[in-house]
Amino acid sequence: MATKILIIGACGQIGTELTLALREKHGENNVIASDIREGNDDLMQSGPFEKLDATNYKAIEDIVMHYEVEEVYLMAAMLSATAEKFPMRGWNLNMDSLFNVLNLAKDKKIDKVFWPSSIAVFGPSTPKNDTPQTTVMEPTTVYGISKQTGERWCEYYHNKYGVDVRSIRYPGLISYKTQPGGGTTDYAVEIFHEALAKQAYTSFLSEETALPMMFMDDAIRATISLMEAPAESLSIRSSYNLGGISFTPKQLAESIKAEIPAFKIDYEPDFRQPIADSWPSSINDEQAQKDWGWQHEYDLEKMTKAMLNGLKSLKS
Ligand code: SER
Repeated sequence: MATKILIIGACGQIGTELTLALREKHGENNVIASDIREGNDDLMQSGPFEKLDATNYKAIEDIVMHYEVEEVYLMAAMLSATAEKFPMRGWNLNMDSLFNVLNLAKDKKIDKVFWPSSIAVFGPSTPKNDTPQTTVMEPTTVYGISKQTGERWCEYYHNKYGVDVRSIRYPGLISYKTQPGGGTTDYAVEIFHEALAKQAYTSFLSEETALPMMFMDDAIRATISLMEAPAESLSIRSSYNLGGISFTPKQLAESIKAEIPAFKIDYEPDFRQPIADSWPSSINDEQAQKDWGWQHEYDLEKMTKAMLNGLKSLKS
């Protein structure tokens, strides 16, 4: 049975691929894309689009009513590096949009919500390797604070009002169809663009900075599996840890060099280095495996090949 779905923030890095995947599954006209700006041609031409400010409750409600939307994926957010520059704007966008959607679900205007959390919920006092689902969380970035607070509110709305909200703590996401915007893990996408254009890249994170990462195909599959899982199998209503690959800029450069032998990397860490240093290096996702059968498919080598081939295919 097709479900009527609204994606808020559909033109971003995750939103674009998620919209296309959901349109494939539920039919183009059942998946309404919305964003404050227009997206790429694939997105704009494959189904309905509405211009939407995620902080405007009434505007979201109007779209939900008009299309008889049942599920909302709220992908609009200000990411870690940008939110450090505009703390109050980041906080307001990330929190207001979440309350808007949670309140629509509380009032039974929609049935189900997906909201993304992040590895940014963790901080320097969190165990760095194989970070457990439940552990110390003292985030030091505005983005991380907003995501951790959001997790608490998701769980609260579930326990108190029965809201069916589901969430994943995404690692850094690597994709070729759409660029990320304003994150600390963006280097792992930029590097591929520059490897193809110039055979060289200057990393804004130091060579030994290991972070949890994931190829977008895995992230989209995880998102859709979690949303399709039976409610009774889910034991976490804050947000699920999701493991993928863990690598440093140096290891990523080695993997690219195996494909492009002339590739060279150097390092000029900037203000994003302390953000990365405050995050885990790798994530334990046993709970996601147990509750909804999660298993990632892409390792570093497979991801590198998929990125380079994907980018080349877009250029040709
Ligand atoms: N990739 C995000 C960022 O770097 C983390 O969720 O901000």
